[in-house]
Amino acid sequence: MLEKVSSAENRRFPRARQSQDFHEYLNDYRAGHPDDVLVIDEQVSSDQDITAVLWALAEQGKSPLLVFPKVAGLTMGVATNIFGSRVRAARMLGATPQTLHEAYQFYANQLVPTELVSSAPILDVVERQHIDLSSLPMIRHFETDRAPYITNGIIVAEHPDTGAGNLSYHRAMLHSPTELATSLHSRGHLWRLLAIAKERKTPLPVAMVIGAHPLFMLAATARVPLGVDEREVAGGLFGEPLRIVKTPRYGIGVPACAEIVLEGVIDPTAEVQEGPFGEFTGYSSNRSTNNLLRVEIIMRRKNAMLIDVAGGNSAEHLNLGRIPRESEMVEKLKERFPSVTAVHYPSSGTHFHAYVALKQVRPGEARQVMLGLLGWDPYLKTVIAVDHDVDVSQDASVLWALATHFQPHRDILTVDGLPGSALDPSSSGIGTTSRMGLDATRGPDFDSVRAEISPASIARAAGILGRAGKL
Ligand SMILES: Cc1cc2nc3c(=O)[nH]c(=O)nc-3n(C[C@H](O)[C@H](O)[C@H](O)COP(=O)(O)O)c2cc1C
Repeated sequence: MLEKVSSAENRRFPRARQSQDFHEYLNDYRAGHPDDVLVIDEQVSSDQDITAVLWALAEQGKSPLLVFPKVAGLTMGVATNIFGSRVRAARMLGATPQTLHEAYQFYANQLVPTELVSSAPILDVVERQHIDLSSLPMIRHFETDRAPYITNGIIVAEHPDTGAGNLSYHRAMLHSPTELATSLHSRGHLWRLLAIAKERKTPLPVAMVIGAHPLFMLAATARVPLGVDEREVAGGLFGEPLRIVKTPRYGIGVPACAEIVLEGVIDPTAEVQEGPFGEFTGYSSNRSTNNLLRVEIIMRRKNAMLIDVAGGNSAEHLNLGRIPRESEMVEKLKERFPSVTAVHYPSSGTHFHAYVALKQVRPGEARQVMLGLLGWDPYLKTVIAVDHDVDVSQDASVLWALATHFQPHRDILTVDGLPGSALDPSSSGIGTTSRMGLDATRGPDFDSVRAEISPASIARAAGILGRAGKL
């Protein structure tokens, strides 16, 4: 339920007042969690080095916030992987990974109207003439990408009748010194706003925000109906009004502390080539609506940084896209099925897998819960249900439950012919998918005793390893 409140006083998820400035966020975070920020002082290439470093760290199970002060060919430093860790994402909301969904729902559902300010860092430099987008900081993330891309471009568009602001991410590559090629392939609300513009035979005024505070980034993936101003969701997440300035030409409200903002129009009649691009599935996708964004004004702060999102099936890309969806699904599921104790969307399954833990009281309950989730979440293909004592945040624990509790002839349910993600390389040509529930709960007839180590021995082991310097 969305509700309007003027301030977000709360005690449930305590946190310090959030600055809306990314630079302050980074400084504070570094000071508070120095082990969770990795600064690479060596100069790196803008051609895949950043993605390669991120991937190498992820293979070691590490996901620090990464800062690259020197990137060859770029006029500014790069920060990336902010959302690569759910611990970090949860901290922004005064939560832990276990309470992240609840905290997200709590803050995001409090709509806080924006506050217009007259002076702001984003007004430091406003270029209206001689626009040259080749000076924009762009990174090639994957060898298979068509070109260097802006991956963290959040397009702000206002409804022509109500002024309600829509936020959505759209990758962009250089098309000409004044134009970007972009894609609205998720055919979300921006696509609908563009359809209105097309009907009215006008271009659609937009502002692309390249880099802002992480809570603004999170608000841009909020799942709210068209007409709800997502800048007010950002206000909810901040616990105070999002401070905005109006763009010079079309008066679009953009964050006062953004790093770079491009103001211009999407031309509903133009089509330009764009993609392939590394998508959340881990595959390179050619799917694009091939839109043209004509840039008329560049705004940036003096000390701007490029805040990048690595894309592909990086944890950051998956977390950003998923946290709001997961949170909504978990709230719905727990409300309807009180037996559900935990839900987890593993990054190994991109957007297609979910694990549910429950305290089953009636036979068949796990199946009903899985059907609920498979029906509600448009992306899911596979849900695995386990008992409440299985840690759903660990792939290995869920696979163990599957190995030992599950009988294929008895515990599988499939549904075919449902709409699927157009980016799923395995789905049929007509865009449908099948969905599957795997019931890996023990069930009423299960008869086995788990081999366990006594708590006293576990405590002794901690002491032994501690003294050996291994803990
Ligand atoms: C990092 C990131 C990049 C994304 N890139 C694109 C993109 O290039 N094109 C697109 O259509 N959707 C992209 N998406 C998905 C949309 O931003 C997302 O579906 C959004 O919620 C749509 O919002 P809307 O329905 O309010 O327009 C991306 C999402 C994330 C998190």
